[in-house]
Amino acid sequence: LTKSFTLFVIVLFSDLSFTHCGNVLVLPGEYSHWYNMRNIVGELLKRNHSVTVLVSSASPTINFTQQEKFQYLVFDVPLKAHEVHSLSEQLVNIWMQYPRPNMVQIGLQIMDVLGKVREVHQIMCDRMLRNETLISRLTALKFDVLLYDPMIICSDLLANILDLPVVLSLRFSLGFSMERMCGQMPSPPSYVPVPPTEMTDHMCFMERVKNVIVYVVYSFAFRMASMSLDNYYIGKVKLSFIVTQCCG
Ligand SMILES: *[C@@H]1O[C@H](CO)[C@@H](O)[C@H](O)[C@H]1NC(C)=O
Ligand SMILES: *[C@@H]1O[C@H](CO)[C@@H](O)[C@H](O)[C@H]1NC(C)=O
Ligand SMILES: *[C@@H]1O[C@H](CO)[C@@H](O)[C@H](O)[C@H]1NC(C)=O
Repeated sequence: LTKSFTLFVIVLFSDLSFTHCGNVLVLPGEYSHWYNMRNIVGELLKRNHSVTVLVSSASPTINFTQQEKFQYLVFDVPLKAHEVHSLSEQLVNIWMQYPRPNMVQIGLQIMDVLGKVREVHQIMCDRMLRNETLISRLTALKFDVLLYDPMIICSDLLANILDLPVVLSLRFSLGFSMERMCGQMPSPPSYVPVPPTEMTDHMCFMERVKNVIVYVVYSFAFRMASMSLDNYYIGKVKLSFIVTQCCG
């Protein structure tokens, strides 16, 4: 997880012209995702754009009490930062176990943690999307664009509710699941090594087989993990491609 993967910014659609100063809403990812995004935020500020970072009160990464050149807008969740942080630690611990259990055991452990991640995600979605006070406050701030990391769950729905064009920033997801299923990134499994396999684009036959297996397993895990989010998407016609691609 600490391997450095290339930051890539996918510009999905944006009618934002950088010649005037924009009002940018940012939904940051956590950990290294935020450190990447901070650079983008810094560049936006240098170009005189105004930036507001919307963050949950249980963010394990972001110290929103700190004075910054941008605004923080905090939404309350009934969770503690250390509880959210412990989920990432559990995933890292699964990965770093020694002696290493077999792939089936690792898979089961990952599914178990993903179940807990899903619960946290649902709480976050509810507190962000279903709080009318928060939504009216965001609407009143009249943003031009939403810059987000899809690691933050329901961020695409927030864009939809606020009717904002989006710019995505994502470091990587396991098996490139998000990039492939939500971002339509081409990634033929026998040619593109997916995280966390730690392989290069020069793969022998057995490595290709391994890559395909990892690809299939993470696609399945991602579908399972996102299934319970389906009902958030019902009736959201504009995002229908995500309903079919991402959440079954
Ligand atoms: C940002 O605003 C300041 C003060 O209004 C101005 O001096 C500076 O040239 C602006 N920078 C850019 C990149 O537009
Ligand atoms: C967050 O920032 C405030 C203000 O700079 C500081 O007093 C506090 O110790 C910081 N908290 C953490 C956990 O770093
Ligand atoms: C909704 O958001 C407002 C403003 O951020 C906050 O004061 C309030 O506690 C939130 N309500 C719930 C139920 O989370």
